[in-house]
Amino acid sequence: ADRAPPGTDHRHYSQVGVKMVSFEVIEQQTKPFDGQKPGTSGLRKKVKVFQQEHYLANFVQSSFNALPADRVKGSTIVVSGDGRYYSKDAIQIIIRIAAANGVAQVWVGQDGLLSTPAVSGIIRDRVGSKGEKAYGGFILTASHNAGGPDEDFGIKYNTENGGPALEALTDQIYENTKTITTYLIAEGIPDIDIHKIATSSFSGPSGPFSVEVFDATEDYVKMMKQIFDFEAISRLLARPDFTFCYDALHGVAGVYAKRIFLQELGAQESSLLNCTPKEDFGGGHPDPNLTYAKQLVKTMGLGSPVPEEIPEFGAAADGDADRNMILGKKFFVTPSDSVAIIAANAVGAIPYFRNGLKGVARSMPTSAALDVVAKGLGLRQFEVPTGWKFFGNLMDAGMCSICGEESFGTGSDHIREKDGIWAVLAWLSILAYRNRDVAADDKLVTVEDIVTLHWGIYGRHYYTRYDYENVDAGAAKNLMSHLVKLQSNLTAVNKIIKETRPEVSGVKSGDEFEYKDPVDGSVSSHQGIRFLFKDGSRLVFRLSGTGSVGATIRLYIEQYQSDKSKTGADASETLAPLVDVALVLSKMEEFTGRSAPTVIT
Ligand code: G6P
Ligand code: ZN
Repeated sequence: ADRAPPGTDHRHYSQVGVKMVSFEVIEQQTKPFDGQKPGTSGLRKKVKVFQQEHYLANFVQSSFNALPADRVKGSTIVVSGDGRYYSKDAIQIIIRIAAANGVAQVWVGQDGLLSTPAVSGIIRDRVGSKGEKAYGGFILTASHNAGGPDEDFGIKYNTENGGPALEALTDQIYENTKTITTYLIAEGIPDIDIHKIATSSFSGPSGPFSVEVFDATEDYVKMMKQIFDFEAISRLLARPDFTFCYDALHGVAGVYAKRIFLQELGAQESSLLNCTPKEDFGGGHPDPNLTYAKQLVKTMGLGSPVPEEIPEFGAAADGDADRNMILGKKFFVTPSDSVAIIAANAVGAIPYFRNGLKGVARSMPTSAALDVVAKGLGLRQFEVPTGWKFFGNLMDAGMCSICGEESFGTGSDHIREKDGIWAVLAWLSILAYRNRDVAADDKLVTVEDIVTLHWGIYGRHYYTRYDYENVDAGAAKNLMSHLVKLQSNLTAVNKIIKETRPEVSGVKSGDEFEYKDPVDGSVSSHQGIRFLFKDGSRLVFRLSGTGSVGATIRLYIEQYQSDKSKTGADASETLAPLVDVALVLSKMEEFTGRSAPTVIT
């Protein structure tokens, strides 16, 4: 390794006369750890696992080794995350490893905080003082998983387009983790004060190195202002009959919510719930859904007791602020409806889409509500496997403007991640637009009105998801193989349906979903079983790719109703016959021993 000879004067002076501390590069011996295989959402493990000596360092060095050395040398890398426990230690370690690997500059959000969408935007758009741009970034998050000393930590690498590393790169990182014997680390760089907005400069064997700590919201706010009409949203928020509630679940979204909703848009401070980021998310699960966003759900009148005053609009985010949940007064907007409604209203309500949409996309298990909009508006539409990376390819090729998933992810081609705050601003824009001519003393057009009007035009996709968590992995596999076989025999399928629930329409086709990427031609197979019914209903079965214990079977149930007089029924009642059919077709109880799902969303 490059060690400076003893007695070397470690102080160097830059041309402008700033004293620079110099550092040495140490080659540290290490041994591989098992199981450092990152998915597209990165490497997620318990904090205790990450705290083992060399564990994080091995992974970071393996990532640098997987990148072309000539691009790493002299590059700028972003390092920040959702602020969960262990982030602060991780940032200091990554800074030293980056410096030792010849990175010229590390960009850190103040307090080590940057939302996942903000990092994506910064990689794509931020320009440094010397005109430089970021080459990639390490995002420190385990998304919606709980945080704290006994909970989860995570690290994920995003590449130059602002999106998560693709499989070829994550596979290479994993290969490197299996054979790593040493990593490079800088000695002589003190802990950086990541609370202070400042640049710290150093001098290393391969040249200058600096760490710039900057305001976490600045770049993101600038981007949002280019997309949305902030004045129109401010006018909506100023209406006495419009009340608003945002729950950041103690994740990083709180930082952006304070800046955007309070400072920029003039919302009341009382509109914000849990907007101070905490290392353990206040002990909760930072997942914006009806189960985990308890306080918001209650505030919006969807729990009990029902409060006397209920805000008109409610929303929540997950830990790293890429997911979102949208609520109206006593009203839940399904993520599948949300993306369809945003797409249907985007051109009028959101300046960024003024010139039209390039196309729209949804993941396969997401309801077909978006398809009906695409058809109605004559837009190109794509159905991709679960996982945001598939949208990224379409967006890079200019084929898709808006996309979404049933798993509470919504976004657009302004970045290459889903974007929780963006989704809220999109909804506020739609509300502002729909109320632009509504006088202050006239009845406000509400979230429920917008959704109901949408169903009136496009019909409604009744939708629910049943999750069977922590099922024996073998049992889950057997259930899926049974369905693979069954799906090819429609006569048998339709016989079972007739015997179970004769009122349910027949199945017109079944398949195991396979996707051929129209951009790079790559094929993704075994992406879940689909049954498509004659009346437009769908049943989808797939295994979760994110579960941590055993296997999680997800069952997605969807029924299309185009008759406007029938779009206001109760979803679970409407879907009950289809649910029965799904359980019989899959032999759910027989295979898993479960008579009920663990979670219904
Ligand atoms: C992550 C990904 C999403 C995906 C979700 C569901 O959040 O970023 O793109 O929809 O996981 O994953 P699962 O495989 O558990 O259904
Ligand atoms: Zn997330």
